[in-house]
Amino acid sequence: MAKVTLTVNGRTVSGECEDRTLLVHFIRETLGLTGTHVGCDTTQCGTCVVHMDGQSIKSCSILAVQASGSTITTIEGVAVNGEMHPVQAAFKEHHGLQCGFCTPGMVMTAIDIIGRHNGTLDEATVRHELEGNICRCTGYHNIVKAVLSANAEMHAGRQAAE
Ligand code: FES
Ligand code: FES
Repeated sequence: MAKVTLTVNGRTVSGECEDRTLLVHFIRETLGLTGTHVGCDTTQCGTCVVHMDGQSIKSCSILAVQASGSTITTIEGVAVNGEMHPVQAAFKEHHGLQCGFCTPGMVMTAIDIIGRHNGTLDEATVRHELEGNICRCTGYHNIVKAVLSANAEMHAGRQAAE
């Protein structure tokens, strides 16, 4: 057994797990944060995406012990004071989800994409960068619309604050 200590959604948490435990299972089963989903366990679907030290990762592709000491943000940590994150709000506004199973991973990936492109995102880039996230319901069109809309809003907000 190994002891794992993480900062998750602003809180320091510790737990014991087997050496072979994947980060996604530690998040879901030890920490009880079940918004991060498991759709494949083979690093294809992207439903398990969280942020580790500010970058999106597939949490089924790393061991919990490897992540120990890092800062993790899950879908439960992106809303502020009960207000949805702009990406969550855009998915709602643009009907970027149906069953919702892929949505936490989509949102976490989208936040990372938007953060890395500094307002310069276009549709082709969004489609390319979302290729690691699979949705079996929506056909992606509304997801892409939601990401572009959130990008425009978040970038406008940044400009207004500057
Ligand atoms: S569960 Fe991680 S990519 Fe599918
Ligand atoms: S909304 Fe159902 S899998 Fe994407």
